Amino acid sequence: MLIDLRSDTVTQPTPAMREAMFQAPLGDDVLGDDPTVNALEAKAATLFGMEASLFCASGTMTNQLAIRTLTRPGDDVICDYLSHVYQYEGGGISVNALASVSLAHGQRGKLTPDLIREYIYSPTDPHKPLSRLVVLENTVNKGGGCYYTVPEIAAIRRVCDEYNLLLHLDGARLFNALVETGDPIEAYGQLFDSISICLSKGLGCPVGSLLLGRADMIRQARRYRKLMGGGWRQAGFLAAAGIYALDHHIDRLKKDHARARKIGAMLEHLPEVEEILPIDTNIVIFRLPETLLAADYVAQLETKGIRGISFGKHLVRFVTHLDFTDEMLTEMETKLQSVVVS
Ligand SMILES: Cc1ncc(COP(=O)(O)O)c(C=O)c1O
Repeated sequence: MLIDLRSDTVTQPTPAMREAMFQAPLGDDVLGDDPTVNALEAKAATLFGMEASLFCASGTMTNQLAIRTLTRPGDDVICDYLSHVYQYEGGGISVNALASVSLAHGQRGKLTPDLIREYIYSPTDPHKPLSRLVVLENTVNKGGGCYYTVPEIAAIRRVCDEYNLLLHLDGARLFNALVETGDPIEAYGQLFDSISICLSKGLGCPVGSLLLGRADMIRQARRYRKLMGGGWRQAGFLAAAGIYALDHHIDRLKKDHARARKIGAMLEHLPEVEEILPIDTNIVIFRLPETLLAADYVAQLETKGIRGISFGKHLVRFVTHLDFTDEMLTEMETKLQSVVVS
C-alpha cells in the first residue's frame, strides 16, 4: 500500500463528489451563464459575508489576481519570507503586479502588528515604494500548518487601517484553521479586502480556488483572469466538486489533524528525527541531523512505500488528507521504523 503524504493535493475525488460533478448543469462561464459556477461563487461569497467571488484554476492564480488587483506598479507588498506568494509563485508579485516585496521574518511565518509596522515606508519619502498591501497566510504551509486566530488578525487589520494598507489572505488551508479555532467564518469576510481559498487541498477537489472580495474588485480580477488566459467554459463540472466539498468536507478536517498528531508521536521515537515542529493542523515538518540530507531520506521513505517531500536541506514534510486512512496510519509506524539511515 502506497502512503502518499507529499501534499493534501494528491487526493482523488470521492464517488459522491464524482457523481455531483457528472450531474452538474453546465453553461459557458466566459459568457457568465454556467449555473454551477455561478452557484459556487454565490455560495462562497455568502459563506464569508463578502460581496462576490471568482472561481479560478489554482491558488496561485487567485493570490496573483488579488495582488495585481489591489496594487499599482511600484507599490510594495508586505509578507513573511516563508509565504507562498513569495516563495512558490514564480516571482509573480514582480511579474504580474510590477510590485516590490518587503519580507518580514515572523515566528513560523506569522506576522504581528509590530513586525508589520517595521516594514511600512513613509508615503512622503520619494526614495521608497508605496506600502500598499499586507498578505497573510492561514494556515502557514512552511510554518508547519500553524494558524492565526481572529483576534490576532483583527490587531493586524487595525494597523492596516491606521496606515491605509489593504489586507489579503492566502487561505489555501483556511478551513484547517477554522476547524481548530472555531472562529466564525464571516469574521474573515469583515477583516480582509480579499481572500483566496483552495478547494483542491484539504477539501479534496480535483481542481479549483476561489477569490473573494468586493464586487468591483472581483470584476477587475475577472478581467485580469481573462487576460492571463484563465477564462474557462463548462467549468461547472469542477464547480460542482467545490459545492460538494463545502457541504461535506469541512468538519472531517479534524480527523486529518488528529492523524497528523499521531504521526508526530511516531516520529518522536525515531533516532534520525532531531526536531518536530508543533503540529497544529494537517502538516508535519521535521528536522534531520546535519549528516542526513532530506532528499536522501525521502528517497529511502519511497522504497518503503511512504511519500513525503524534502522541505529544505534537512527538513521533511508530510501532509495528511482525505485519502489517508487509519489503516495507513497503523502501517506507517512499522514502515518508518524500517528506514535505514547510515
Ligand atoms: C499556502 C498556499 N498558498 C497557495 C498555494 C497555491 O495553490 P495552487 O497549487 O493551487 O496554485 C499553495 C499550494 O500548495 C499553498 O500551500
